Amino acid sequence: MKIKVLMVCLGNICRSPLAEGILQTKTDPKHIFVDSAGTAGYHVGKKPDIRSIEVAKKHNINIEGQRCRKFTKEDFIAFDFIYAMDMSNYNNILSLGPSEEDAKKVRLLLNEVDLGINEVPDPYYDADEGFEKVFSLIDTACTEIANRLNQEHIA
Ligand code: 4NP
Repeated sequence: MKIKVLMVCLGNICRSPLAEGILQTKTDPKHIFVDSAGTAGYHVGKKPDIRSIEVAKKHNINIEGQRCRKFTKEDFIAFDFIYAMDMSNYNNILSLGPSEEDAKKVRLLLNEVDLGINEVPDPYYDADEGFEKVFSLIDTACTEIANRLNQEHIA
């Protein structure tokens, strides 16, 4: 059975599309399905932000095919792991009122690693350097997550 991982931020155009693309490059799609969503619906149907597309491209990851969607309550059922980029996203997700069991699926992405910060900063109003920093934080966390998923869930 495939493990399903959902990456969540606010807009689903900057951080979570990067997280989706990065984790996909570190895992086998035969075993692990990765998707992303936003807790806000401002940009539904749009491509990722051009700055995320560009920083991903620099690291040989193509995220241009992604389209923004909003997080829904059904995602609690569909996914095994739900990673929020920051505390605000985390609280927004839990405010939808999942069951106790489903609430356990929700984690802060950076709590998977020890980088001295536990939130991926929102780069939307930043210059391009903000996107490099965000890429690096997400990449480090995704390496750890991929190692664990590959060990624990793939025979
Ligand atoms: P994201 O960044 O949550 O990383 O996708 C944002 C994108 C759009 C907005 C805020 C944050 N916005 O306010 O439109």
